[in-house]
Amino acid sequence: MFETSAATEKPDYAMLVRQVASILEGERALMTNAAQFSALVYHSLCDLNWAGFYLCTEARHPQQGLACDLLLGPYQGKVACVRIPFQRGVCGSAAAERKTFLVPDVHAFPGHIACDSASNSEIVIPVIKDGKLYGVFDIDSPRLNRFSAEDQAGLEAMLAAFIAATDFDGLPSA
Ligand code: SME
Repeated sequence: MFETSAATEKPDYAMLVRQVASILEGERALMTNAAQFSALVYHSLCDLNWAGFYLCTEARHPQQGLACDLLLGPYQGKVACVRIPFQRGVCGSAAAERKTFLVPDVHAFPGHIACDSASNSEIVIPVIKDGKLYGVFDIDSPRLNRFSAEDQAGLEAMLAAFIAATDFDGLPSA
């Protein structure tokens, strides 16, 4: 059994990166590893109301030049928006620009998609392997300005460990 430590304001990210590798060891299936990763993040940081993946799927409107849509994947939290077009909201922006979006106040972010009215801040990190974008990992908090630069670096390192431990074959990419 794995013991996860209590959710905290300042998690030990070096320890969490090691925990990602050890929890995912021996299994490379995307949905399995993504579910485990979401649960680990959700229960390791305090003041979260959502943590999970949006993964690339065939675009509904490819004629508009959209590479793919983002479709809800494994997550922890309340039911959420199912499909997000590229470039829409924080998730679509992080996917299109292939960079982490740290949003201290979602109400000030033009085009933010409110899945849960309790969310006040958000961080979205793109999932990129071998130059291909496979989706994003999204975390929401009911607290304004919940995520620091230290959280961003720690969460990016955790996600990198998840990406290294996981096969994305067969999933559409952009
Ligand atoms: N707020 C996100 C949508 C996803 S939910 O937060 C789970 C966005 O603006 O892309």
